[in-house]
Amino acid sequence: MPTTRRDLLNAMAKLGGAGAVYETLTAWNFLKPPPAMAQSFELPKDSGNGQTVAILGAGVSGLCAAYELDKAGYKCTVLEPTRRAGGRCWTIRRGDRFQEMPSDAEPNPPVQECTFDDGLYLNAGPGRIPHHHVRVLKYCRDFGVALEPYIFASRANLIHSKDGKTWPLRRPLYDLQGRIAELLDHCKSSDLELPASKEELESLHDMLVQFGGLSGNGTYSNAQARAGYVKGQGPGVAFKGVPETALQLNEILNSEVWNNWLFRDAIIYWQTSLMQPTGGMDMFVRGFLRQPLRGQLGTLEGLIRYGAEAKTILVGNNGVTVTYKDLSNGNVYPLTADYCISTIPMPIFKDMTVTGVEDSFMRAAAVLPVTPSGKVGWQAENRFWEKNYDIYGGISWTNADIDQIWYPSDGYLQQKGALTGAYMSGVKATNFNPLPVQTRLNRARTQGAQLHPEFNDAAIVDHGLAIAWERMQFERFAWANSGAGAAFDTAVQVLARPQPTVGTKRFFVAGDQITYWSGWMEGAIQAAWHATCAISSNACPKLP
Ligand code: ALA
Repeated sequence: MPTTRRDLLNAMAKLGGAGAVYETLTAWNFLKPPPAMAQSFELPKDSGNGQTVAILGAGVSGLCAAYELDKAGYKCTVLEPTRRAGGRCWTIRRGDRFQEMPSDAEPNPPVQECTFDDGLYLNAGPGRIPHHHVRVLKYCRDFGVALEPYIFASRANLIHSKDGKTWPLRRPLYDLQGRIAELLDHCKSSDLELPASKEELESLHDMLVQFGGLSGNGTYSNAQARAGYVKGQGPGVAFKGVPETALQLNEILNSEVWNNWLFRDAIIYWQTSLMQPTGGMDMFVRGFLRQPLRGQLGTLEGLIRYGAEAKTILVGNNGVTVTYKDLSNGNVYPLTADYCISTIPMPIFKDMTVTGVEDSFMRAAAVLPVTPSGKVGWQAENRFWEKNYDIYGGISWTNADIDQIWYPSDGYLQQKGALTGAYMSGVKATNFNPLPVQTRLNRARTQGAQLHPEFNDAAIVDHGLAIAWERMQFERFAWANSGAGAAFDTAVQVLARPQPTVGTKRFFVAGDQITYWSGWMEGAIQAAWHATCAISSNACPKLP
């Protein structure tokens, strides 16, 4: 009798357990629905059958894994070193306190306490949900997490050039579009040999008139005021409106505003529409925490042991033993489970004592490329960006270290608002984040004032907070750098492989850090689905 796929899967299950079946299915590409359709997810009912899972970390990935496993009949324990669930998905509000780790420039970092008014908040980590992050949106839908629009790009946002000019974004954007159209339109009357017929060149001209806002003869002058008015329109000829003088091509090129910022909203991550949970990003975390448990009284939050820092992991043939330190009394306790999912960030995990995994696994953990990133938050009076600049949400960009200023997408026309006064990563974060808190705040104030002089006035902008994710004790990075090419590819190839590779798979790494949506909650969920599927066996129907 010929061997059927089912026979082969059964044989794989006997040899290598659920993980082997899962890997086989993945290799066959059976478990790969098109990305936009992967909106539903359910582990096989009762596949847990009381088996135990230790989950390290109560961030989005750990919570998602606990939620799905609990529904399928597993008994989960979540160890979380801090006193708060959510990990980097953290919304800072009045009274919240934190302390970064020392840096050379700041050996004794202060405890920072948020003194914003009630109702204002800073999303210190994730701040937006793209419309194609279907897995995050699925849970928002399931848990009733209210969403509102997150404005990424308003044409009134400011852009501060290398040569010190500040323009509303619409000026360099539409003037550049116009100038490019103008240039391209010249081609049709030049001697260039173009790969287009005469009729096609006529169509090209018609298109360029639309694209660039050209006049019929192919010149650009901002006649349509796409780039804005110096004097707006109104009643009578006196108020016909005076468009801004169009920037010259070389002026825009020399400013370098095109290098990094101007086209940011073309990147798929940030294409409109984006959303945010009403009231703060941690509403997403709270959605998980309040879910009732399946087999016992209480909610998902009841599975979390706070102040429990995992120290060692021993992956054995029959189970996994984790030792953890209870940070309230310093005692170390063991936790044994049939399976373990670790969401511990690689910069911490790489230094832990982990036994029973391949050597290559720990080597991959040590070399996974990671990114630093920081934010500054302010409370601001008078919503001057609305009154004085017509800015309602969105981001202003600068070549200074602060890189970005985010304006609130909510609370329009109110008296106060919380501004994200800096959001940088990579080299800018490496420069900025080690500085003492007060130096960072002073710098954010001065650099912010290059765009809005109001930043110089502490009566208007105050209550500053500075957070460097790589200086947070239980994070030590902002995200893994999935843009690092082969270095990232090679490391995650190993880290996404359940351990041990021979026999029953018992240990799994999760977190956005092993996905190509690193730095996004979508990645955290993908990784949780990946690990829970691998644990729960052969019948997982819908794996990303
Ligand atoms: N998710 C991060 C952002 O949107 C990287 O900036």
